[in-house]
Amino acid sequence: MGKLDGRVVIVTGAARGQGEQEARLFVEEGARVVVADVLDEQGEALAEELGAESAAYVHLDVGVEEDWRAATAAAKDAFGKVDGLVNNAGILRFNELLGTPLEEFEQIIRVNQIGCFLGIRTVAPEMAAAGGGTIVNTASYTALTGMAYVGAYAATKHAILGLTRVAALELAGRNIRVNAVCPGAVDTPMTNPAQLDPGADPEAAREAVAELYKKLVPLGRIGQPQEVAALALFLTGDDSAYITGQPFVIDGGWLAGVSVV
Ligand SMILES: NC(=O)c1ccc[n+]([C@@H]2O[C@H](COP(=O)([O-])OP(=O)(O)OC[C@H]3O[C@@H](n4cnc5c(N)ncnc54)[C@H](O)[C@@H]3O)[C@@H](O)[C@H]2O)c1
Repeated sequence: MGKLDGRVVIVTGAARGQGEQEARLFVEEGARVVVADVLDEQGEALAEELGAESAAYVHLDVGVEEDWRAATAAAKDAFGKVDGLVNNAGILRFNELLGTPLEEFEQIIRVNQIGCFLGIRTVAPEMAAAGGGTIVNTASYTALTGMAYVGAYAATKHAILGLTRVAALELAGRNIRVNAVCPGAVDTPMTNPAQLDPGADPEAAREAVAELYKKLVPLGRIGQPQEVAALALFLTGDDSAYITGQPFVIDGGWLAGVSVV
């Protein structure tokens, strides 16, 4: 028996990184997964690898209302219902606040924050019709503390926690649980763009990342996307049946405090 047998889950930003690992793990655990992303080639390849019985790809720009309606309809066409959503898609831009153009700030809000809102607003009624469900929003370590040069990103991740709490309160009566994951540094193209650069030396990039997080993180290493997927599985499955409205930090101890030795 899988932990998600009979479930149908939309995972946004599922073509690569944490979303890809969430899609893979959820299918392993018996769910049927809608792989949603703007990276069509990679998303389609993943859905094909997972098999048509278990996965379908849809093009979904999370900041576009009409895309959400179409993706939800496609999910129902493919698998009959939707009772799970992982709002995982997100973008990161580095900039000091005083030098951040308004368009950049708005673009980050559009994807990270409005994307999450539109996902909840579009999919929750379908979940209610299916008898209930779960929503996992992807916030961040920077939802709970500051980090210089990621002001727009941190603002959206703080906002996602507010949205998570309010959605949990408003949707509990429809048997929908809403929680958030707050990852620290996780080894994906977002944290380690060298993964996408054919000209980069992968070994050198790995060593630089390892050296950095050995110093910064109490557990001495960067996190793996599979570890975040395991937390998203916990929050989507019945093991977390009495949990809603909460942020879950997964950061190797980074937020625990500072150490002087
Ligand atoms: N990697 C980390 O260290 C880290 C830490 C904390 C939080 N997060 C969050 O985890 C989530 C996943 O990030 P990741 O590390 O896997 O990064 P990633 O860049 O590898 O993956 C992000 C995915 O989102 C997709 N995406 C971007 N804009 C989109 C849009 N408008 N519509 C639909 N899909 C879109 C991308 O195409 C990509 O597939 C993000 O919300 C990110 O903010 C990541």
